[in-house]
Formats: sequence, structure tokens, C-alpha cells
Amino acid sequence: MVEKQAKPSNQPKKFYITTPIYYVNDIPHIGHAYTTIIADSITRHKKLAGYEVYFLTGTDEHGQKIEKSAAEKGLSPLELADKVVGRFKQLWKELLINYDFFIRTTEPFHEKGIQEIFQRLKEKGDIYKGIYKGWYCVSCENFLAEDIPQDEDGLKTCPDCGQKANQVAEDCYFFRLSAYRDKLLTFYQQNPNFVRPPARMNEVVSFVRQGLKDLSITRTTVRWGIPVPGDPEHTIYVWFDALHNYLTGIGYGWNKELFAKFWPADIHLIGKDILRFHAIFWPAFLMAAGFPLPHCVFSHGWWLKDETKMSKSKGNVLDPSLILEDFGPDPLRYFLLREVPIGLDGNFSHEGFLHRVNSDLANDLGNLVHRTLTMINNYFQGNLNEVGDETSLDQNLQAAFEKAKSQVIAHYDDLAINRALEEIWVFVNQVNKYLAENEPWKIARRPEKRPRLARILYQAGCALRGIALLIYPVMPASATKIWEMLGEKTKLTDRHYDQFRFDGWEKGLRISPPKPLFPRVKLEDFIKGKKAQQPPPKKTPKEEKMEMISFDEFMKIDLRVGEILTVEKVEGTKKLYKIQVSLGEETRQMVSGIAEEYKPEDLTGKKVVVVANLKPAVIRGIESQTMLLAADVNGQAVIPFFIEDVPAGAKVR
Ligand code: ME8
Ligand code: MG
Repeated sequence: MVEKQAKPSNQPKKFYITTPIYYVNDIPHIGHAYTTIIADSITRHKKLAGYEVYFLTGTDEHGQKIEKSAAEKGLSPLELADKVVGRFKQLWKELLINYDFFIRTTEPFHEKGIQEIFQRLKEKGDIYKGIYKGWYCVSCENFLAEDIPQDEDGLKTCPDCGQKANQVAEDCYFFRLSAYRDKLLTFYQQNPNFVRPPARMNEVVSFVRQGLKDLSITRTTVRWGIPVPGDPEHTIYVWFDALHNYLTGIGYGWNKELFAKFWPADIHLIGKDILRFHAIFWPAFLMAAGFPLPHCVFSHGWWLKDETKMSKSKGNVLDPSLILEDFGPDPLRYFLLREVPIGLDGNFSHEGFLHRVNSDLANDLGNLVHRTLTMINNYFQGNLNEVGDETSLDQNLQAAFEKAKSQVIAHYDDLAINRALEEIWVFVNQVNKYLAENEPWKIARRPEKRPRLARILYQAGCALRGIALLIYPVMPASATKIWEMLGEKTKLTDRHYDQFRFDGWEKGLRISPPKPLFPRVKLEDFIKGKKAQQPPPKKTPKEEKMEMISFDEFMKIDLRVGEILTVEKVEGTKKLYKIQVSLGEETRQMVSGIAEEYKPEDLTGKKVVVVANLKPAVIRGIESQTMLLAADVNGQAVIPFFIEDVPAGAKVR
């Protein structure tokens, strides 16, 4: 049956999903990866379901915690942030995280937005000036409840993280949180799914019922923060600043249309550590400023390492990049999402990880793909035609797929990703059983049964193609590999679920010999020297292993001389220019992050090397159709310019 490909509809369904913005005091770890992988998988799922999706992530860069951590490292807070942002972005790339926008709270458009909202609440009377006296946990960036007792030394300990708190007594601005108690309770009652899972909702309700105190939302003793408009002695409390990223990250203050299209958020994904900020402060701030409220705050559980909490002092923090070196992105994505339901805590052990990867991925799925493709290649030279008629066994396999598909979609919709994966594996085993029952390897010995043999392998191929579709949200790399090995010429993502047909696999495609999908790694090798528990070796770009490429591969890159025609700053950014560049016969536009290094007049009229056959990308809503080459000198771009007068468009090799 012929499959229609997805067409853009006039009124696309839209979906806005966020992760927390992560602190830049330290490098990313498995917990950060977890939330972000969930968000990415749900994004990919929603796109297959026909939604237009906006997926926001980023970094939380202000506040005392970052100020302190930067000072300890002998860096300015922004230098520290720049470094750590690089690590986050690199990890997201390695994990195939396809976010739409990465917000940094130090960007001018965000800072401006925060000041506007602060001013708005102040004018409305929801922010007033007073004096704060109490205790503050820098690690959680949180004010402690008053009823926590002092120890013998007169100090208080943060109940959330166990660190010692600081005593604070300073002038500040307060947010009138107390006034929102009843409104919040009514809102929770009318929107019982605002906080998920339900146990977390109950927690929030009982906390709010006890009454809410006004919240100090500025500091005079913290310099690294957004200044209060008109009163710059005060900087804005980092949580007030950070929570509003969900507005500034979707266009508030810089893109009205985008904002109107996507706000309110459909899901704020968070860890349970920051539930109160999201389920209490955040809706109260939004009510005060008059914004519609988000639909859902989904609070996930905690990952432990060998049943203990990960912490820097214990030295057991898991760095995902070490696992990625051995396995690539999909096994880690699969493990984290398959192992536990999203609301519960999970335990990471090397044994547990390897067991899942070897049994579910390498054995069940990997072998199935390998066997099927090998048979198609051996018996039919990779080209199935003259496929015999369907029998009821064949129809049963298709019916099993249709059933799995609708259940998997429903589970993904419900963020029950582990259930979705379980369902897919039920189907994987059905396909294995189908092959065992039909015994194609025996039929292959009987020439008169060739049409039947072709039919069996065709059904199995259709099933693999269906499996590729269903695993795609969680395992995009493996799904794409299977898809391509099946000879598909169009992209898997050109389809939506409802246009996908089990028998949409064209007969007569050229099927590649199988390539291994999942590496087999032995436990001894994996934990050798507790490799994955050690702090990552520092890599300079020079030491990074680069894969060798052939001359032909190199020649695929179309390098050209480009003449820079015009340069303008992309509004609301520090680093970005929009540049028009001539390639002789045509002019291209590009967005380039070189504004901190070069002034427009340093660039205009200059000739540079550009990549002419780079797929266009949209950066900050602007299409970037090419890219210029520059050296990366500790994060600073240094551009090679032509000294000779070369014609624009000339080939560079
Ligand atoms: O809290 N298991 O940032 P943060 C599971 N900047 N998830 C974990 C985890 C673990 N062991 N450790 C961390 C902040 N996470 C604020 C957020 S939002 C407006 C501001 C994940 O760097 C989980 O998503 O401490 C958690 O909520 C988040 O990282 C906290 O990251
Ligand atoms: Mg934290």
C-alpha cells in the first residue's frame, strides 16, 4: 500500500516542552541527561504524531552558587558559564538531543524580559520592599523554612541537600506569595493534572494548604544577577530569573508571534528536587503577571549510582560521555527510559546497564534485524520481488503490529515511555516467533517455494520497518539505520504515525547487507579500572581523536570563496551576526557567532572560505544557508581572510 507523506496542515497542532535550565557550576551528568533525553523523545514522538513542537532547554547562569564556583576556579562567572555551556551543548549533540532553542540566562533579551516582568509586578503591588532575615542554602539557592532548628554551633542545615546554610539579613524586595494561597489551591483543584504523577500533586497541595509566606526575590549581597530596574543595589533572586526562561525562551520580549503560538507550555519536565519552585512559585508569578498557566509540571525521579546518591564528594557522579564513547547514544537513551517509569527513582549500575543492552538490544532486536537482512541478501541478493500471497499467519503479524502501534502511541502520549518500550519488545518477540514458526531457512531449500520465502521475508522486513518507526523517539540513530538498511529512500520522519502502513514497504527496494546495530561490550572491559566512574580526562581539541576520511569524502565538502556583503547584529544576542555573502552567481545568508570577535566593518568586503553545500539551518528564526570557516582558539573564532584578490565563488580545496 502506498504511503502518503506528511503534508503541513493549515492549523498544525502545537506542543511546547521544556527541561529545567541547568546550573553551570559543574559539568553535566547523567541526571541532566535523563531529563533532556525524556524531552527529546517526547518531542520526536509528538512530531511523528503531527505536532509542531518547540523544545526548550538551556542554562541557569546567575546567582551565588555560580558566583562562588567561578571564584573557586579563578574564573569570572561568565567565563565559567561559557565553558560549561560548551560541555552541555557537546553532550546534547552526542546524545542526539534535537532542541529548538538553548537559552542562556545571561543573554540580553532574557535579562531585559526579567526586568520588565519584575517592574510589572512592582507596579501592580505584588512586589514590595522590606527586610529579609533568615537562612539561605547556596547549593539549592533556596531560603530555609523558619522552623528548622539551629544546631549546637548555632547553624542550620538545609533539609534538601544537607549543606550548611548561611544567615542573611538584608534589605530586599518581596513577592506577595501569601496572597496566592487560595488562588493556587483553586487552580490545583480545577487542574488535577497540573502536577504529575498524582502523588506529587498531593504533596504540593498539602504544602500550600499550610499557608505561604511572602518570598524574598532580590539580594544585595549577590553581585552576579540581573539588577533590579531603578534600584541596581539589588539583584534579582536567581529562581525568579530562572523560572521566567520558559517565557523568554519562547519569544517573550523578542518574538510576539512565536510566544502567542506556543505559550502556555504543555509540559515542564523537572526532577523532583525542584518541584516546589515549579508547582508553587511559578504559577503564582504567572498569575501575578497575568499569563496563562502551563498545562503540566511533570516531576521525575532520581537516578542513583549503585543505590547511593551521586555527589561530587563521593566521587560517584556518572559522566554520560564515557558511556557514549563505548556505546553511542541509543543504548543510554534506551536504558534510562526503559528501566523505570518516569516518576520513580532509578538505579544505575554497570551490570544493569550492560545486561539490558546485551539482552534487549543486541540479542532481541539486533539479532532479528541481522537475521532478516542476511536472509534477504543471501536468498534474494537484497532484492525481494515476486512476493507470494499472504496467509493468515502473515495477517496475524500485521494485526499484532497495528495493536502494538496504537498502544505504544498511547503510552508515549501519557509519558509512560517504559511501557511503550515494553510493548515494542512484545512485538519484537512476536516477529521472532513468526520467523521460528515459518522456518524460512528450511523453505529456502525448496525452489518451488520461492514466492512463499519472499513473502515471509517481506513480512519480517515490514515488521522491522514498523519497529524502526516505534523506537525512533527513543532510539533515533538505530531507527534510522534500520530504515536505511531496508533500502528506504525517503526519511522516516517524512511520515506521521497515521500515514504509516505496515505494508508501505515498497517491494523491489535494494536491501543492504546488515551492519551491526549495537556494540557488544564485555563487563570487564566496560568497568575496567572503573573507567566510567573516574572524572573525565580533560581533552583539548588537539587530543581529540578525529576519524580519518578518504579523499572522496573530503571532496564532498563544497568549499568556496565567499565575499561578505553586509553584516548586521541579530537582535537580542551577544554573539550572532546575520551576514549576506556572495558566492559569485548567488548570494547566501548565514548566521554566524563571531560578533564578540569581529566588528561589522572588520568583515564587510572581506573574502573568506565558506561551506557551500551545507544543509540550511534555522538559527534564532533566521535561515542560515552557509557557514564560514574559522579557527577555534579557546572558544574564540579567528577567521582566515584571503589577502590576494580572489573571485567570489572560486572553489577551495
Ligand atoms: O535545579 N537524577 O539546576 P540543576 C535525575 N537551575 N535527575 C537529575 C539528577 C539525578 N540524580 N540530578 C539532576 C537547577 N537531575 C536549576 C533549575 S529551572 C527554571 C532551574 C536533573 O543543574 C533534574 O531534571 O541543579 C533536576 O531537576 C535538574 O537536573 C536540576 O539541575
Ligand atoms: Mg541541583
